[in-house]
Amino acid sequence: MSHGDHVTQMPQGFVSTATTGDVITAIENEDRRMFAVQFHPEVAHTPAGSEILRNFVFNICGCKGDWTASSFIADEIAKIRETVGDKDTVICGLSGGVDSTVAAMLVHEAIGERQRCIFVNNGLLRANEFEDTLRLYRDTMKLNVTGVDASAEFYADLAGVSDPEKKRKAIGARFIRVFEDAAKTGEKAKWLVQGTLYPDVIESVSLRGASVTIKTHHNVGGLPEKMDLKLIEPLRELFKDEVRLIGRDLKVPDEILRRHPFPGPGLAVRILGEVTPEKVAILQKADRIFIEELKDSGLYDEVWQAFAVLLPVQSVGVMGDFRTYEQAAALRAVTSTDGMTADWARLPHDFLARVSSRITSEVRGINRIVYDISSKPPGTIEWE
Ligand code: XMP
Repeated sequence: MSHGDHVTQMPQGFVSTATTGDVITAIENEDRRMFAVQFHPEVAHTPAGSEILRNFVFNICGCKGDWTASSFIADEIAKIRETVGDKDTVICGLSGGVDSTVAAMLVHEAIGERQRCIFVNNGLLRANEFEDTLRLYRDTMKLNVTGVDASAEFYADLAGVSDPEKKRKAIGARFIRVFEDAAKTGEKAKWLVQGTLYPDVIESVSLRGASVTIKTHHNVGGLPEKMDLKLIEPLRELFKDEVRLIGRDLKVPDEILRRHPFPGPGLAVRILGEVTPEKVAILQKADRIFIEELKDSGLYDEVWQAFAVLLPVQSVGVMGDFRTYEQAAALRAVTSTDGMTADWARLPHDFLARVSSRITSEVRGINRIVYDISSKPPGTIEWE
């Protein structure tokens, strides 16, 4: 319900078709073919919400529902070929995530080696992620990809920076420089492939409007104009679950398709305060244990996103006969359908106990674990 709004008087010719208590929640005018609801049929928690939408789209609007992953792929390949032509080259930044990977695979199907992919290690990825993903891109997916390890440059830029937005800006600016340098080594590209999804399109529309920027997402911002590139965004009308379907058809490895979303600035926004290579190494170990345990317990696919956060708080602990004074880490796991709203995941206590005990015994530098029980809103998914 949109709290605060209610029907005080029915418009002429309308009848009420649903109520909550004595509040009118749906009205219609058959003759004029107008139907209105005052709740959110699209959110996952509304009972029969999808059925309401299905009825509207099929029975009222008369749509056919013949969209399939393979028809989308065929159409999109034809469109990309037509857009790019027979000679132009395109460039694509891969992040290791679902969106950029599926976008690159689509373009690969359309123009093959004329797409050059660049995968940057910013030193803020999860443990072994750069090496493992690069191997998948190259050997399994046969993409034309260059891996660039720029960790040292990113760390240098982040030295002494604690403010979250300044971190994002520093990482974004460095990313552009690294990407530009890597792009320069080959034939000049005219096009840039981006894995923009429909929710990104909606978010950037509202960002241009009245609502304020909560976090500056999308660290590739500025790249197309700066490098004089035109955009190819084959996924811009799709939601994440549709992208996964398409990825499956394109034989993108399951490991990438099932991967939780991961922010562009990576672990930098999960290390509160200044980022150092030492803190990254500590957090990578904790994160790896958490993710490993989620996968082993069959819980990984149940949550939208799960990760550890390194807190700038030291507390007293005891290890054997010794007193310790080390950092605390928070575990965060959320359920969500699109990342815009989220609820904290009710992970079993025994599971949390196991993760906590493994991290505190296996990771030097962390002696205390807390579990984040905030929803979004008012919390955001990431801590920074
Ligand atoms: P928040 O923290 O805003 O996150 O609730 C919503 C989703 O966006 C991801 N996220 C980012 N992704 N660059 C990105 O590419 C960013 O700076 C960034 N910040 C948050 C977050 O992981 C979640 O999936």
